[in-house]
Amino acid sequence: MAKALASFVCQNCGAAYNRWQGKCESCGEWNTLVEENAGGAAVPSSLRSKRKGRAFALESLTGDTHDAPRTPSGMAELDRVTGGGFVRGSVLLLGGDPGIGKSTLLIQAASLMARQKHRSVYISGEEAVAQVRLRAERLGLANAPVQLAAETSVEDIIATLSQGARASLVVIDSIQTMWTDTVDSAPGTVTQVRASAQALIRFAKTSGATLILVGHVTKDGQIAGPRVVEHMVDAVLSFEGEGSQQFRILRAVKNRFGPTDEIGVFEMTGLGLREVHNPSELFLSERDLGTPGTAVFAGIEGTRPVLVELQALVAPTALGTPRRAVVGWDPARLSMVLAVLEAHCGVKLSGHDVYLNVAGGLRINEPAADIAAAAALVSSLTNAPLPADGVYFGEVSLSGAIRPVAQMPARLKEAAKLGFKRAILPELTRGDGAGDAGLALNAVGSLTELVAEIAAKGKGKRQQIA
Ligand code: TYD
Ligand code: MG
Repeated sequence: MAKALASFVCQNCGAAYNRWQGKCESCGEWNTLVEENAGGAAVPSSLRSKRKGRAFALESLTGDTHDAPRTPSGMAELDRVTGGGFVRGSVLLLGGDPGIGKSTLLIQAASLMARQKHRSVYISGEEAVAQVRLRAERLGLANAPVQLAAETSVEDIIATLSQGARASLVVIDSIQTMWTDTVDSAPGTVTQVRASAQALIRFAKTSGATLILVGHVTKDGQIAGPRVVEHMVDAVLSFEGEGSQQFRILRAVKNRFGPTDEIGVFEMTGLGLREVHNPSELFLSERDLGTPGTAVFAGIEGTRPVLVELQALVAPTALGTPRRAVVGWDPARLSMVLAVLEAHCGVKLSGHDVYLNVAGGLRINEPAADIAAAAALVSSLTNAPLPADGVYFGEVSLSGAIRPVAQMPARLKEAAKLGFKRAILPELTRGDGAGDAGLALNAVGSLTELVAEIAAKGKGKRQQIA
């Protein structure tokens, strides 16, 4: 018989070692190795059968395949992120910080599904039935026919779910609390999480139920437990938000059955999560009109335009190395914009601290935000407020030119809808067809031009631009 294999498993990345050591060589984390019974890693004797393999039929790429049948949850923002509803037999992993609202979101989704006469089951490994009931009562969902249990044994759960009608939705809150008899490790360890997830996923695929696993995240934002769980599931959703703010954003990090660039926006209220169908209104709701250092960016999240305010503060530094702090945007892009401002536009920032913040806790990935960020920075530096009725979008190239971006008509239309009067945007090439949104278009060809325009309006200038 083979000797017991590696039995020290890194709780961060799942790498296995045959002796303990302080640092995991695979992911570089310290103190993450925990002894686990290797029984789970080796093939259990019951599966080591002597039978020969069975031949199965191979298929061609063409053929009758029905579209993945979907059941909309009835929560439009959730359906937007999943790609139009829950696919039968699919498995979703929902990650997010503690207290962000994962359990709230899922009890609401389960209730909506149950009210549409789909069997939906909510298994809580963290809270007692009474606690879940209490929450449901507060959310006004107590009369929804959700089937509820506080259980952690995977075998018991699967046995229960196999009885009665096919479940449409099964929520497991959370996968870290589940344990299976087939391995000896403690619940929450990599081996247990992996084995429990495997068993539950197998059940979902064979029964056709949609399974949602809640996953805890570690302090650096990764879903705890082995990354392999992320590979095993069909979609990984992440629920994000700033603790102090009421907005919550649901994103698909991976999705086998839909897009990954859509976001769902929610607001946490006293009555649970409220869907926000028009995020721009929310992100712009508390604007400081006419303050220097703020610019409205007309962005695109997935297929939906989202207007959001960028706030910059540029202040003389007291430190040898000035600070550059950015929330909600890529620090590397900020460095690039600062470099272009210095090199091509004569804006001296080496003696200044620079802070940039995307309002409302949104995270922007688009390069189209470059000129909005640049405008906010220059506006703060020169103490010149930007027009309150203008939106900005455009990508800055290293040469200082402003480049066109995708989906300009959609951005303009959204801005017009929200009452903006003008757009500061890249020079249009024929065929962009952006002219009919009813906004005054102020095309700028280079960042120098934009900086000059803003600086010319600077009142009590804090600093002259060379
Ligand atoms: P919860 O769904 O338990 O978070 P998670 O499962 O992600 O850990 O949400 C907990 C937080 O949400 C808690 O701080 C209270 C807040 N909350 C509300 O503000 N309103 C509500 O109606 C509910 C149910 C929770
Ligand atoms: Mg919870």
